Amino acid sequence: MTDGLGLTKTQSWQALKTHHEQMGQASLRQLFAEDPTRGESFCAEGASIFLDYSKNRITAKTLSLLVALARERGLEARRDAMFRGEKINITENRAVLHTALRAPRSASILVDGRDVVPDVHAVLDRMEGFAERVRDGRWRGCTGKSIENVINIGIGGSYLGPEMAYLALCPFSRQTMNFRFVSNVDGADFTEAVRGLDPARTLFVISSKTFTTLETMTNAMTARQWLVESLGREDAVSSHFVAVSTNAAKVGEFGIDTANMFGFWDWVGGRYSMDSAIGLSTMLAIGPENFKEMLAGFHAMDEHFRAAPIEKNLPALMGLLTVWYNNFFGAQTIGVMPYASGLKRFPAYLQQLQMESNGKHVDLDGRFVDYQTGPIIWGEPGTDAQHSFYQLIHQGAKLIPCDLIGFCRPLSPLSHHHDLLMANMFAQAEAMAFGKTAEELAAEGSPAFQTPFRVCNGNQPTNVILAEALTPKTLGSLVALYEHNVFTQGVVWNIDSFDQWGVELGKVLANRIIPELVSDTAPQLDHDSSTNALIQRYRGLKGANR
Ligand code: F6P
Repeated sequence: MTDGLGLTKTQSWQALKTHHEQMGQASLRQLFAEDPTRGESFCAEGASIFLDYSKNRITAKTLSLLVALARERGLEARRDAMFRGEKINITENRAVLHTALRAPRSASILVDGRDVVPDVHAVLDRMEGFAERVRDGRWRGCTGKSIENVINIGIGGSYLGPEMAYLALCPFSRQTMNFRFVSNVDGADFTEAVRGLDPARTLFVISSKTFTTLETMTNAMTARQWLVESLGREDAVSSHFVAVSTNAAKVGEFGIDTANMFGFWDWVGGRYSMDSAIGLSTMLAIGPENFKEMLAGFHAMDEHFRAAPIEKNLPALMGLLTVWYNNFFGAQTIGVMPYASGLKRFPAYLQQLQMESNGKHVDLDGRFVDYQTGPIIWGEPGTDAQHSFYQLIHQGAKLIPCDLIGFCRPLSPLSHHHDLLMANMFAQAEAMAFGKTAEELAAEGSPAFQTPFRVCNGNQPTNVILAEALTPKTLGSLVALYEHNVFTQGVVWNIDSFDQWGVELGKVLANRIIPELVSDTAPQLDHDSSTNALIQRYRGLKGANR
């Protein structure tokens, strides 16, 4: 284990610090003028994904220093330990093996002496059998009707991946079926999800690793009530509910036959689980063959991450660039803008993946770090984003590194839209990098008084990620790219990217407040004065104190 507190004292860190001071405000204009071929040299490709990172504020020296940092932090050894199934999630004493979820049948990966690959494929086979029965109409609801509507109930990692993948892969989805997702404990989420649906043709997939999550269990109970009351039959549950979980006992208690449960394992983190049984709704939508293609895409990126030298390794490069801006430039955020409307939920998916993984303030030895860790991730699809917040990227006073993601071939039949879309992506990367100077504006005849207001300083860094088309395979590779990017950052910062203790506090406090809100009689409140007053106002306005 590397010393977290020592990170800023290491040779490679100090070298980067000096280099950063020397580079100063070196502009991308300058860097491109000095090396006109950098657009061809600062690129890498792996698993059919192309990364142009030339529009970053780096030189060849920056790159070699970042690679040296990765080596000094033991990236290769830590990566190999993860792939081998070592218990690198030390605070929970768990292996971290989402890569086993997409390993081929012929692979062998041991956890506590047991080969987990046959277990993974046994679940995949069961998912396939079930998905085929639902999709071809052999699986019937309690009234004998086939299934038309699938509702995934889950939250966090048990929701964001399935919804993101469904939206991304809509062109591959069974068009005669409806797929909806319920996550929020706000009753409006459930109400809207079932609006207009025939319960006799509706299947609920209750997705929860623990099967104890308040939001999911509340929504699952509501779903059961909705179904039983609408169909007037208690026995409806067995043919309209399936579960995805690691907790067979709780699934049984809920009343779902464990024969209709699809399992996974404690070595799959929630935010790393969309390619486990948590992807059941994805498989129901796109079919088993496309799901396997998606797994192949994940695996191709795993192999790239495992084999490519750091200098050419996409996830490692992206992770190191994040460290460069986060720790040396003080950038607080990364914008992710997919130029693909199907990827509209990809930024939200990445928020959990990155911020739950790397939002940590202690190192692996439990000591407070003296450097910044995970950046804030945000974003919306282009071109919509251009008409809302891009103004701040172009003329605000903040450094905002961005990832722009695009595809060369559209899947929509309206193919003439695609050149317009991609022209915008390329143009935005160009504008962010090079901006517009006062001289250029004057030469174009801009009125002098307007010139300062029209100048764009540029120098905003971008990674441009390009792939052929948004297919299941590409989506798998893209997600794995970010998973390993997050891993790389965590290794440099020497943190546990696989636990999430910080989310516990809010859950505990909410459980204490729930009875204070539902009680018919005014409760004794002993929170701080702000929380007490808010609870009183809430109770007053909802009429609880009458
Ligand atoms: O609250 C955070 C979290 O534990 C996530 O890590 C997880 O993805 C989510 O809740 C849902 O958990 P579960 O799948 O156990 O319902």
